[in-house]
Amino acid sequence: MSDDVKTPQSDLDSLVKSNTGCEKTIEMQLSEDGQILRLAMLGEMLASVAHELNTPIGFISANLSNLSKFIDKIFQLLNAYEHYASINSSNSEKIEIDKIKKEINYDYLKARIPEMMVRSMKASDSLKTLIRDVKISSRADSSKAEPSDINEALESAVHIIMSEYKSKVKINKDYDKLPLVECYIGKLNQVFLNILSNSCEAIEGTGEITVRTRHIKETVTIEITDTGSGMSDKVLEKIFLPFFTTKAIGYGTGLGLSISHRIIEQHGGTLSADSKLGQGTKFTIKLPICQKQQI
Ligand SMILES: Nc1ncnc2c1ncn2[C@@H]1O[C@H](COP(=O)(O)OP(=O)(O)OP(=O)(O)O)[C@@H](O)[C@H]1O
Ligand SMILES: [Mg+2]
Repeated sequence: MSDDVKTPQSDLDSLVKSNTGCEKTIEMQLSEDGQILRLAMLGEMLASVAHELNTPIGFISANLSNLSKFIDKIFQLLNAYEHYASINSSNSEKIEIDKIKKEINYDYLKARIPEMMVRSMKASDSLKTLIRDVKISSRADSSKAEPSDINEALESAVHIIMSEYKSKVKINKDYDKLPLVECYIGKLNQVFLNILSNSCEAIEGTGEITVRTRHIKETVTIEITDTGSGMSDKVLEKIFLPFFTTKAIGYGTGLGLSISHRIIEQHGGTLSADSKLGQGTKFTIKLPICQKQQI
């Protein structure tokens, strides 16, 4: 029997091989879809938590702002009392007033309260911004692509990521004046968050990320460049494959970029990467401003 004659066993082997491959592909697809579904559910949950937080933080912020005005007035009154008491009080009254002042640490309170108010107002402002950014970044998509502000979405994604990495990563922004882009902005937010978090994770010690947008003819280009570890050519050629990760078990599923790639392709755009080991990485997204057909 010649070598190229197929035996029932070799037929069976190739059948098993092709079926196994097929099952794997389906399994991978299901897993990737499951991940997309989980991310969508997480996005919805985040959006509703952000919505619920909006009202109480609004109260806190408004009350703090009023309180800070009232406290200034109360201190004005106290200063007037102090002045009046220093002229008109008897010695025993002065001793009694000084005793109370000492007990409540009056001088310390007087010096610290305005500063505490300013800090609380700043903290409530950052909370308001964070809630706004979470709302934008987890925005549920409507059933059709809608004209959206890409700079605004990037800005929110940057804010969210930077709340975790601000001590090690400096962010540079170079936004062009962009037209509205017809897209599923919730999905694009997911892409921006994936790429930005990869960049932050690739930075050991301290480093920089530059987010740049450009409008050229019918296309909007977004570049996210980091000064992180970079990648070898071998790694670079696999990054868009589902489940490809160089991260330790439990630290990465290897789905971030494959999902992002798919989302950008669904928008009729491209997602590409350039990288130099030891120097850094640049991801480039090109998006058409208008969709040729409904996606
Ligand atoms: N900015 C970057 N710098 C260096 N390597 C990167 C960068 N972005 C991606 N990579 C490489 O590409 C791999 C795949 O990235 P991807 O986002 O798909 O998965 P992951 O980050 O490993 O896991 P996750 O699914 O949690 O995102 C990473 O494990 C890493 O090796
Ligand atoms: Mg990732």
